[in-house]
Amino acid sequence: MRSHILGTGSYVPKQVLTNVDLEQLVDTSDAWIVERTGIRERRRAAPGEACSDLGVQAAQQALSAAHIQAADLDLIIVATCTGDSPLPSTASLIQYRLGAARAAAFDISAACCGFVYALSVADAFVRSGQYRYVLVIGAEVMTSITDWTDRNTCVIFGDGAGAAVVGPTEEDRGLLSIHLHADGRLSDLICVPGGGSSIPASEFMLAERLQFVKMRGNETFKIAVKTMEGAVREAVAAQDLTVADIDFLVPHQANIRILKAVVERLGLSMDQVIINLDRVGNTSAASIPLALDEAVRAGQIQPGSLIVLAAFGAGLTWASGVIRW
Ligand code: ACO
Repeated sequence: MRSHILGTGSYVPKQVLTNVDLEQLVDTSDAWIVERTGIRERRRAAPGEACSDLGVQAAQQALSAAHIQAADLDLIIVATCTGDSPLPSTASLIQYRLGAARAAAFDISAACCGFVYALSVADAFVRSGQYRYVLVIGAEVMTSITDWTDRNTCVIFGDGAGAAVVGPTEEDRGLLSIHLHADGRLSDLICVPGGGSSIPASEFMLAERLQFVKMRGNETFKIAVKTMEGAVREAVAAQDLTVADIDFLVPHQANIRILKAVVERLGLSMDQVIINLDRVGNTSAASIPLALDEAVRAGQIQPGSLIVLAAFGAGLTWASGVIRW
């Protein structure tokens, strides 16, 4: 038995933040942001709109697309680094809001790889027979950890959520394989230093702005290109396939230059890459399920398509997955 994605959904907040809006906040320009990142605009959650609010919207769409009732869910996994609060899990809040009374619920922290990590857990539970229907959500309010005085990071991130219902299939399709990796030696490349147990919330933390995301972007960029390429090659090799067999790459939407470099090294065409970062920016764990849902709803991804998911992010973590749609 295999697991398969039975339905997808996504949601982005209404407020659009353009590059021109950011020109009012930091010393940057629309031209610089477009050239260096490919991002033109991103979405920002309204005051009081939390990670669970975004996740619920995406989840409801995914359940409806999968024709599954919330009451039938066995487990809800939320991949996020910007949950509503440290306790309880955002998955628990969403479980209640959906009315998924039977479902167990927990969060996963793997930054931009979170959705692929969560998908692998769902896949293992479904294939083992322990659970039948697992809801996997990637949801982020990255603007809640964005330092609007730091031009290195504030131009990159946006808010959003994507979701997938995973269940069993006996057809010759579904999740074929997932590979997960991490290298904690590089944990300081992208991090939020404060607000946890090492530097708890304090006047010192606020004065030093340690509650915000810090990133060594240029070093991350180089590692991202190498790890994404390797992750895609590992994914197809595990299935005795080659890069030429891929119909669509659904990558973590970090930076258009990273995607172009990866695609060139792999010998793919940009037409095979699902891209929405120009409209939503880098939404961390929400990035892949948001792009996937858009491509499914647009009819780009069709039954039988061979899809490779590829992600990298803080940790460092990197991951890939192969799906026969
Ligand atoms: N506007 C104008 N100038 C800027 C801006 C900006 N918004 N940001 C940086 N600069 C300047 C820098 O200060 C620097 O100036 P200097 O040469 O005078 O020092 C110059 O531009 C070049 O800076 P670099 O950091 O070398 O620029 P780079 O081309 O690497 O682009 C970027 C920066 C966009 C951050 C890129 O490195 C990148 O996308 N990195 C990967 C980010 C990523 O994918 N992160 C991982 C996922 S996030 C997660 O896990 C939650």
